[in-house]
Amino acid sequence: MDKELKELLTHARARIGSVNTTKDLDQVYIEIFGKSGEFTTLTKQLGQVPKSKRPKIGQLLNEAKKEIEQHLEKKRSALSAGRSATPIDITAPGEKTKIGHLHLVSQAIEEIVSIFKQLGFSLQSYPEVEWDWYAFETLNMPKNHPARDDWETFFIKSKPHPNLGNQVLTPHTSNGQVREMLRVKTPPIRMLNIARCYRRQIDISHTPMFHQFEGLLVDKNVSIPDLKGTFDYFTTRFFGPERVTRLRQHHFRFTEPSFEVDVTCGVCMGRGCRFCKSGWVELGGSGMVHPRVLRAGKIDPEVYSGFAFGWGIERTIAMKTNIGDIRLLYQNDIRFLEQF
Ligand code: DAH
Repeated sequence: MDKELKELLTHARARIGSVNTTKDLDQVYIEIFGKSGEFTTLTKQLGQVPKSKRPKIGQLLNEAKKEIEQHLEKKRSALSAGRSATPIDITAPGEKTKIGHLHLVSQAIEEIVSIFKQLGFSLQSYPEVEWDWYAFETLNMPKNHPARDDWETFFIKSKPHPNLGNQVLTPHTSNGQVREMLRVKTPPIRMLNIARCYRRQIDISHTPMFHQFEGLLVDKNVSIPDLKGTFDYFTTRFFGPERVTRLRQHHFRFTEPSFEVDVTCGVCMGRGCRFCKSGWVELGGSGMVHPRVLRAGKIDPEVYSGFAFGWGIERTIAMKTNIGDIRLLYQNDIRFLEQF
């Protein structure tokens, strides 16, 4: 029995050493420890061994079993380690990590701020949830005035303020004008107010939430050429030197005179095309600050004058990049956004 056990051990070691797959290893296990396996057969013979020798042989059998099992275990882990370790090609070029970039609107805001900073305008921030007083009343649009209709306003369900009226989602950045005058008190004022605005409107060129940038300059002897010069400077810096502006007369309650500012179309450069028809595209509103607005801001219109403008950022971006539908800006489609 001693001899047979030794033979079995040698045989088992050799068999285990020679297999290359775990499936073959399972087969070897069965051949040794299975129902009619070599080891099992040997254990069955223990009964025939003289009683006195049984404990000794039993012990040897146990030791042999342990040893074979250890071999099997070692082989199994060696085989599975080999399978999971993927070969690495250290010469292959690496994959670049994708880094995102600022949203088109944020990029435009940064650019607009840096252009106006160079003209001495400083960025201010005024409430998005605003009182009727600053959004309309102080801008020469009294209660029930029909001009208010153009601002398709969202109202907040809240208790009206005894002096400032209802709360609204600000429909434009002009709400910052009188707030800025009251803050600075004595001109000169050079404010840039950039904020989210809200109006009940949605189509190819409107979204219910959009951004505006508002400029306000108040000082002594400010006149229309100052306004025009500022727009020309902005236009060449933002759109490029080949684009020019023109003023078209218009009406706003808070400016007198009032203008719409047009820029030559970026597609046809002013010749006239299907997109713009006339060669011009509209940038936004502007004008010389109305004396009543100055007075609401506690500034004497006999001493000071000023100009103001308020333009949509999404619209301005659309005029620069020629994107057809500004709603694309807020659909968060990576295929659109990564183009900029
Ligand atoms: N607040 C106006 C709007 O949202 C735009 C505007 C027009 C702003 C004339 C101004 C201005 O400051 O002077 O349509």
